[in-house]
Amino acid sequence: MRTTTMAVLLACFVLHAGCSDPSPAPAATATAAGFDTSIDTRQLMSWVIDPSAKVVFGAVATIVTEDGEEHVQPRTDEEWNNIRSHAAMVLESGNLLLLEGRAHASQIQDPQDWTAKARAMSAAARTAIEATDVKDPEALFAAAGEIYQTCTDCHSKFIFTPEPTGE
Ligand code: HEC
Repeated sequence: MRTTTMAVLLACFVLHAGCSDPSPAPAATATAAGFDTSIDTRQLMSWVIDPSAKVVFGAVATIVTEDGEEHVQPRTDEEWNNIRSHAAMVLESGNLLLLEGRAHASQIQDPQDWTAKARAMSAAARTAIEATDVKDPEALFAAAGEIYQTCTDCHSKFIFTPEPTGE
């Protein structure tokens, strides 16, 4: 009896990540290599890469208010670790962009350059992780700028490429 209940609950969880969630779960698709790429590139961007990058982008800043300047930077170990975790998400996402089903998607016309641009994002994220290792806010600020540059480098080529005409 107990096993049956568990099985039903599990099915419920697998199907919809919580049965009350009204948004449809993406169809589970597995590539030949067994990777689940049902989260497409756009979702990977807006659900994983963008929120993670924002934490790194906002980590070091000078905010000018009526009362003067406020300097924002990670101060406690917990804050530094939080930045490192998000930089790690950006680094690993560079790998995720290379999975079959993403880098090899038919709409990507220049897979070699796609790979180079995804790797550049990971490399920039690595410099951010190194800045958190030595708790250097200036290096972290510079690394955030580098990461940002790699986002725009890829977007300027791959988002605005016109659809192939089929000629
Ligand atoms: C290797 C290429 C590549 C890199 C690097 C890259 N992106 Fe993207 N990004 C894309 C592509 C392609 C799309 C459009 C996907 C689509 O619409 O199918 C996109 C779309 C987006 C979107 C729009 C998502 C939506 O809901 O429409 C956001 C936000 C985004 N990227 C953020 C980032 C950030 C932040 C970074 C850097 C930390 C980054 N991207 C790095 C290729 C890249």
